[in-house]
Amino acid sequence: MPLPRTGSIVVLTGAGISAESGLATFRGAGGLWEGHRAEEVATPEAFARDPALVHRFYNMRRRQLADPAIQPNAAHRALARLARAWRGGCLLVTQNVDDLHERAGSHDVVHLHGELRRVRCTACSEERLWLRDLEAKTPCPACGTFGGLRPAIVWFGEMPLHMERITAALQSCALFLAIGTSGLVYPAAGFVALVRDRGRAHTIELNLEPSAVRSDFAEARHGPAGTTVPALVDELLAL
Ligand code: OAD
Repeated sequence: MPLPRTGSIVVLTGAGISAESGLATFRGAGGLWEGHRAEEVATPEAFARDPALVHRFYNMRRRQLADPAIQPNAAHRALARLARAWRGGCLLVTQNVDDLHERAGSHDVVHLHGELRRVRCTACSEERLWLRDLEAKTPCPACGTFGGLRPAIVWFGEMPLHMERITAALQSCALFLAIGTSGLVYPAAGFVALVRDRGRAHTIELNLEPSAVRSDFAEARHGPAGTTVPALVDELLAL
C-alpha cells in the first residue's frame, strides 16, 4: 500500500524516540528496568509497600528530564512539523512520560502512560505540575494529606489514559506509524492490529530493530528515529 496523500495520521511513539536525546529506553542494554524489576517500582503494590523506593526512581528520572543536556531530537521536531503541515489531521499518542514532544513544538500530545512532570493526590485526586523531588512525607498542597502524592503515571495493572479518543482515531486513520517502541506492552502494542484489521490504512514501523509485532505492519523502516522519522516526514509532505 502506498503512502496516503490524504486522510488522518495516528503516530504512536515509545522510549526509542527519546533515546537519541539521552533518555534510557526500558528494555535495551542499560535500560531503565535493568537492575529493577518493573514490579518493584512501577505498580500500585510497590508504591503501597515501599513509597520511598518508588519516589527515588521517579525523582531520578524527573531530575534527568530537567537536565539542560536533555533536548528534543530531530525525530520529535519532524513530528511537530508533520502535525503543522499535514492536511488531514494528525494525532500524536505517546507512551513516553517525558515532555520532549511538547518541547519540540507538538501541541495536544496524548500521553497514554501519564506524565513525569505531574503528580496526583490519591486522597483528593487533584493533579498538578510538579518539578521538584517528591518524598513519602510530602503533603498534598490541595488537601494537606501526607503520603498521598504519587507520580501521575500509569503503572502496571492500571488503566491507560485517553483510550476512547485513541481508539476512535485508529478506526478512521489512513496511516498509522509506530516509532521507537518494542511492541511488548499492551494496549499500545495492539494498535497496529486494530488498524490492519480494518484493511484501509497503511501501517509503518520505525524502530531500531524489528519489534515484537513487526509482522502486523505492512512496512518497516529500521534505523535510528533521528534519521528515519525526518526522512518519512519529508516524503509525506512532498506527496
Ligand atoms: P522499550 O524500551 O520497550 O522499547 C524501545 C524500543 O525502541 C526498542 O525496540 C528499541 O530497539 C528501540 N530503539 C532504541 N533506540 C532507538 C532509536 N534511536 N531509534 C528508534 N528506535 C530505537 O520502550 P517502550 O516500547 O516505549 O510503560 O515501552 C513501553 C512501555 O513499557 C513504557 O511506556 C513503560 C514500559 O514499561 C510504563 O511505564 C507503564
